[in-house]
Amino acid sequence: MKILVCGGAGFIGSHVSKAIAVAGHQPVVFDNLSAGHEWAVQWGPLVKGDLGDPQAIESALRQHSIEAVVQLAGSINVGESMTNPGKYFRNNFSISTNLLEAMDAVGVRNIVFSSTAAVYGIPDASPIPEDAPKRPINPYGEAKYFVERLLDWYTRSRGFHCLALRYFNAAGADPSGQIGEMHTPETHLIPLVIYGALGKRPPVKVFGTDYPTPDGTAVRDYIHVTDLGHAHVAGLNYLAAGNPSTAVNLGTGTGVSVLEVLKAAEKAAGKPIPHELFSRREGDPPALVAKSDLAQQVLGWTAKHSGIDEIVRDAWVWSEKALRDGRYQE
Ligand SMILES: NC(=O)c1ccc[n+]([C@@H]2O[C@H](COP(=O)([O-])OP(=O)(O)OC[C@H]3O[C@@H](n4cnc5c(N)ncnc54)[C@H](O)[C@@H]3O)[C@@H](O)[C@H]2O)c1
Repeated sequence: MKILVCGGAGFIGSHVSKAIAVAGHQPVVFDNLSAGHEWAVQWGPLVKGDLGDPQAIESALRQHSIEAVVQLAGSINVGESMTNPGKYFRNNFSISTNLLEAMDAVGVRNIVFSSTAAVYGIPDASPIPEDAPKRPINPYGEAKYFVERLLDWYTRSRGFHCLALRYFNAAGADPSGQIGEMHTPETHLIPLVIYGALGKRPPVKVFGTDYPTPDGTAVRDYIHVTDLGHAHVAGLNYLAAGNPSTAVNLGTGTGVSVLEVLKAAEKAAGKPIPHELFSRREGDPPALVAKSDLAQQVLGWTAKHSGIDEIVRDAWVWSEKALRDGRYQE
């Protein structure tokens, strides 16, 4: 299959592109490089374009005879979405509308979409099943949920086959060291811990030590980006077989606390890692853990590399290499 990977120059998109290529398909990356990196596009051509431009999308679909699309492109900073909601509805929801219209015009109707645990907001219970209420608490999560609704309407009215993958906390790096996480600004815990330990950032801040969790710190479900890559290939195969549109969680079903992440990083570093304790941050749920059996049933996929030690080890190797290769950005 020839797959258009929108956002394929980014963290997850580059790993998805590699997984697609390793599975014997052809990724074509479509990315405006607003947050992605040209060095991360290693498994197929890069079309430098913006999903705000419907003509550019249509011509990429036609020129490369695309058969299915993975849509990872968008803005990803939850905090920024609270102060600049318009940006998030435009650069997550509106651009996805452009993409679906262009796909419809060209007759490409299979799409895998990067959704998020943020569609659930603060859940009533954890692990979170897919049919839990969708109550996003920020424009980032709301815009993602709007796209899921859009996919539902394109399924009903235009014959699309759509798969929304609700990632929990993507982390880790390809074990080869070829690609890994490089966000500017970085807001994700694991790179903040690692670059803090490597002396490139201030000591990491731990927000909240009195949550109703085993050690009092917030619990999240970390999923190795290599596992995410494999899930996208399984998703593309699922759609190619003509299966119905659906949405599934991508997580492990196991929660890991902030202090457990620190402990794993200390193991990788072989030394204690300085950190500072603060009170809770508003809007941070105590625990976000996926109920993860639907992905197994529907896609035949389970996480295989998402133990916290493996995630942190691969992220550590990547981060040291990124520093050596001059790819690290503040
Ligand atoms: N990282 C996580 O933990 C996580 C969790 C849940 C969901 N997601 C979703 O997964 C997707 C990928 O996340 P990531 O961490 O790889 O982010 P990223 O910022 O590394 O990648 C996003 C890519 O999209 C590109 N892009 C942005 N706007 C574009 C536009 N208008 N036109 C073309 N390209 C554009 C960027 O240049 C970048 O390469 C995002 O949609 C994000 O919301 C990520």
